[in-house]
Amino acid sequence: MNFKLANALGRIVELKDRSTGAHTWRVTMYAQAMAEADRMPISEIMGFMLGAVLHDLGKIDVPGDILSKPAGLTPDEYRTMQCHPINGWARLRRLDVEDPFILNVVRSHHERMDGSGYPDGLHGKDIPIEARWFAVIDAFDAMTGQRPYRQGTGKDGAARAIADLEAHAGTWYEPRAVEVFKGLHDAGRLDSILDHLNDPDGLSTPNFTLSEEVIDMARDALLKSSLENADHQNIEAIIELAQQNEAKS
Ligand SMILES: [Fe+2]
Repeated sequence: MNFKLANALGRIVELKDRSTGAHTWRVTMYAQAMAEADRMPISEIMGFMLGAVLHDLGKIDVPGDILSKPAGLTPDEYRTMQCHPINGWARLRRLDVEDPFILNVVRSHHERMDGSGYPDGLHGKDIPIEARWFAVIDAFDAMTGQRPYRQGTGKDGAARAIADLEAHAGTWYEPRAVEVFKGLHDAGRLDSILDHLNDPDGLSTPNFTLSEEVIDMARDALLKSSLENADHQNIEAIIELAQQNEAKS
């Protein structure tokens, strides 16, 4: 998996899931900050960041009306939503991705230390460490990021989110990851990511366009990674949306 293809796929997912604005890009930048703070080896930083870019790839297979519901999913809708880590992981496997950092972040970013997470209900250290670390980032952004039904929560919201992470350290989250993330927060290292990429306009108007080359690359990868005999309507619809954005630019 190279950055160019990961970027293409990440942007396509972002186009489909407009409810989270620039979520993918914020979590990728948080991932970089955490990896640096923990002095992760460069080879692992790459996988960790690519995992961040691709973590919600499986949302490509979740119907748009479920993705955009702010709350109140039915049990069936919730089950569909909960398939996205496995769907994303399976797509990457079909694309011959082998890097465990990427695969583990994608598959296990919703696991919790006490076993109450999904999709595998893993406990504690059975959850790959990169997924335990990424879970902290993903949760922080879920609590602080811009949503259609909520403004970005600013500095106060960030402080509340850090307190929430600390309250669940050891039960949901890896304590050391919470500690490192809190250290970055307290040192002001997260401020630019919080401010700069949390613009309300990002929800309604795509602030990026995709070149024909990127769109083709994403389409090829999505078709190649679909299940055999899959209905490709969903893929074609999202590619069409990307092409419309390109035409407008
Ligand atoms: Fe996710």
